[in-house]
Amino acid sequence: MPPVFPTTRLRRTRQNQWIRRLVSETTLKVDDLIWPVFVVEGKGQCQPVPSMPGVYRWSIDTLVEQATKARDLGIPAIAIFPNIEEGKKTEKAQEATNPDNLVCRSIEKLKKNLPDLGVMTDVALDPYTPHGHDGILIDGHIDNDTTLSVLRAQALNQAKAGCDILGPSDMMDGRVGVIRDALEGKGFKNTLIMSYAAKYASGFYGPFRDAVGSKNQLAGDKKTYQQDPANTDEALREIQMDIQEGADMVMVKPGLPYLDVIHRASQTFNIPVFAYQVSGEYAMICAAADNGWINRDQVMLESLLSIKRAGGRGILTYDALNLAEKKLITAA
Ligand code: PBG
Repeated sequence: MPPVFPTTRLRRTRQNQWIRRLVSETTLKVDDLIWPVFVVEGKGQCQPVPSMPGVYRWSIDTLVEQATKARDLGIPAIAIFPNIEEGKKTEKAQEATNPDNLVCRSIEKLKKNLPDLGVMTDVALDPYTPHGHDGILIDGHIDNDTTLSVLRAQALNQAKAGCDILGPSDMMDGRVGVIRDALEGKGFKNTLIMSYAAKYASGFYGPFRDAVGSKNQLAGDKKTYQQDPANTDEALREIQMDIQEGADMVMVKPGLPYLDVIHRASQTFNIPVFAYQVSGEYAMICAAADNGWINRDQVMLESLLSIKRAGGRGILTYDALNLAEKKLITAA
């Protein structure tokens, strides 16, 4: 029998906070979040990213201070993205495999000072190439298999520095398998891989490219390797392959415009599915709030909750520290 009024009054379970708390289906906790952070060379740096209010590029020393706050508030992990000096960007992305590069030094310092904070890194070449593409360009095309060998070396370089979670975000075919194989071969049995499995060629990455300094360099777009926003079956194939190749967790990116993909992925596979609330999603909320059009924190929480409701196990969000500091969410 379908529920009928007035026997059933759905407002009964909404009438005050205690009952709403009891019947709520989905929760967002600090435990669900990974905090992406930008790092630059230097000391004492706290450079605001204009297109992302509240987001800064930190030098390693200030990054450690911020990461300490995150750890103390219960945020399980941070994800590091480097802003590499122009002079270090090369066609072959050599800096990506330099054991003394900015990312490796950041990992080492973080793991030494905060061994119980998870550290994730990006495996992709875009911060290291002058053209801002995630792979190696040969005759105007991103060459998949040439890129794989550089990614393999980059991943090992980060694992050696102590990285806990490698995040291949490049969307080359076969990269997860190559990286997993390299890790096993070198004895890094416990290094986790969270693959950016379903990563779309999205307009929502604009502010990120500003933050890492690849915005003005990007030649063309990333449509030959990142996914077509029209497709979801293809996302499932990407995820399935990454699982077979050795991913421990998979990610859908961006988050809010792809809730259907998060939902399908989490229903289809029994592997933790994460989502990335990307820079453009974050920036839109901040920009509307700065105009007084929406309540920033309320919309941020609602947006993140929708990702959990869709089936996301956890979320990368630039707002992790803010939400935890304001006690808008807590650890379990
Ligand atoms: C590149 C990378 C990007 C992001 C994470 N890793 C940008 C891109 O693919 O161009 C985007 C994150 C964001 O927008 O917040 N490997």
